Amino acid sequence: MTTALSAIEKRKKEHLALCAKKDVSFHDKTTLLECVELNYKCLPELDMREIDLSTEFLGKKFSFPFMASAITGGAQIAKQVNLDIAKACQEEGIGMGLGSIRAMLKQPSLMDTYYVRDVAPDIFLAGNIGAAQLKEYVPAQLEEALLALEVDALAVHLNAAQESVQPEGDADFSGLIALIANLADKIKIPVYVKEVGHGIGFDVAFALKQTNVAAIDVQGAGGTSWVAVDALRHKETYGEAFREIGVPTAVSIIETKTVLQSTGKKIIGSGGIRNGLDAVKALTLGADMTAAAMPVLKAQQKNGALGVKEFFGEMKKQMIITSFLSGCKDINELHEEKPLLLGKLREWVGK
Ligand SMILES: Cc1cc2nc3c(=O)[nH]c(=O)nc-3n(C[C@H](O)[C@H](O)[C@H](O)COP(=O)(O)O)c2cc1C
Repeated sequence: MTTALSAIEKRKKEHLALCAKKDVSFHDKTTLLECVELNYKCLPELDMREIDLSTEFLGKKFSFPFMASAITGGAQIAKQVNLDIAKACQEEGIGMGLGSIRAMLKQPSLMDTYYVRDVAPDIFLAGNIGAAQLKEYVPAQLEEALLALEVDALAVHLNAAQESVQPEGDADFSGLIALIANLADKIKIPVYVKEVGHGIGFDVAFALKQTNVAAIDVQGAGGTSWVAVDALRHKETYGEAFREIGVPTAVSIIETKTVLQSTGKKIIGSGGIRNGLDAVKALTLGADMTAAAMPVLKAQQKNGALGVKEFFGEMKKQMIITSFLSGCKDINELHEEKPLLLGKLREWVGK
């Protein structure tokens, strides 16, 4: 038991250190957001100061449609990372995902490495658990932990690629759609499903459409490759061979949107979102929210909460400029845009 606990904590520390310092990005595959051409308007007929990208997502207000994706929790060094990100989110009026609460479920004393409500009382906050762990915990056990953390939603992550190359990974993903559906029916807060950087395609989106999940966070390929992270941890695994696996973010958003339109379920466009231009492109493809993990972690490691706040500020400014140059004053107008799809992206979605 003690060995298992320290193994999780050790893994968390390694993930943070590797992601902060090493190259864990995709090398060949991109998000394909570069194939999305916005309708540039040299005469936007708008005053840029009028642009208001504020929105509501799963019952909470956001000053602009962006959130910090799940990063960490469950190791003592994770506590400051979570507090810094949460503080910056509170100041900017945007949302945050906590890292997997698996460590806390096994060792409740680790709860304080996740708890951020002292510094972020108002933000949209999501708890996080791996879909494979739904075999170990019944909804009531999860709900108790989520209540203690005072979160607004639970993100269930799908990380089949990562688990399959980890020597200690749990690659039994059978029966998980039924467990996700059951969880979404049983707990009071909204449940949404997220990938971890290899993307959600048409078939999985279609399976999730039949459940009561409130949203899909696509976390497509082209940004951080979780398989690459594990390749660095275990040289003997197939991590490097599968580094590039997955559905590019732009494709993932388009396919998920095709499946979810008119259902009321929301979409988070994520995975390799690195600037405001990427984020606005994701919105024009149909995302209701955008998110990123790696740039948030890098900003935190560089300059704590201030660094994260600066990154969010830049993101917001760039999203406003991009909206201005597209002649759109708010998120509704961005959703009405019909960007041009070029080259490889057009090939992929036309398949
Ligand atoms: C250090 C680190 C830890 C992460 N831990 C989790 C996690 O516990 N749960 C999860 O769902 N995703 C986790 N992720 C994945 C991110 O939420 C995100 O899906 C992925 O990094 C792709 O986004 P990006 O290209 O913006 O980094 C983690 C990412 C990083 C960088």
